Amino acid sequence: MIENSLSPVSITNNLETHFIGQRVICYPSLTSTMEVAKQEAQRGAAEGTVVVAEEQTGGKGRLRRVWLSPKGSIALSIILYPSAAYLPSLIMLASLAVVYSIEVVTGLKSQVKWPNDILINGRKVCGILIESDVRKNIVGYAIIGIGVNVNLRLCDFPEISPIATSLSDELGRNVSRLDMIRQLLVEIERLYLTLQAGGSIYDEWRDSLVTLGKRVRVKWDKTIYEGIAESVTRDGSLLLRRSDGSLTKIVAGDVTLHD
Ligand code: BTN
Repeated sequence: MIENSLSPVSITNNLETHFIGQRVICYPSLTSTMEVAKQEAQRGAAEGTVVVAEEQTGGKGRLRRVWLSPKGSIALSIILYPSAAYLPSLIMLASLAVVYSIEVVTGLKSQVKWPNDILINGRKVCGILIESDVRKNIVGYAIIGIGVNVNLRLCDFPEISPIATSLSDELGRNVSRLDMIRQLLVEIERLYLTLQAGGSIYDEWRDSLVTLGKRVRVKWDKTIYEGIAESVTRDGSLLLRRSDGSLTKIVAGDVTLHD
């Protein structure tokens, strides 16, 4: 059954996690789930608290962009209190959780475009934003924001339709947002516990990247780097082989794939 609206009970009921998603706050409409999650974290909300909005009127994307999240999409933020050591792994964790959840719930294969776009057939289906409060190498909180285009007809959104897709457009039918959210919470907890137990998710993440081996252009602030995306480091940076043979380490940026 495809639900019309989401409720905390429908998300938490028999959810197979210990702490991720055991407390859920749902709003019909919010400016951004990131803002509410930040306020909750500052008040000491339990780790794993999730803020969900049916729609966002001022969704935040990376690099100060706007993120479109109308009704039919998933917009949620998860509060974590990780140690500084695995803060760089949170982007790997979130990306893998989305890829695995999409496959479990829909059977669709997706890939990660470095650093944190999830693509299906070359088009963006999900964006991830991580915001954290770090002082003197102590993490106050980290918030993982995930936006998934679930039941959207991209033809209704011409501003993003050339580069974006949705699960429903790919499948030709609607998908349960509830199933997607519940699976996401299970995958996030599983991967987070792996990190906490000292395990690594780097290999899985590297193998899920569509970027490696491709000719890319990376824009960071006003600088543009071009080259072959050769590898990624364990801290999540991209290693770019330039035409002069040198290797450049890129910590953040916006990637365009050329091959
Ligand atoms: C990007 O690709 O630029 C990242 C997009 C992140 C969007 C999500 S939707 C839930 C959370 N709330 C926001 O305002 N942004 C993130």
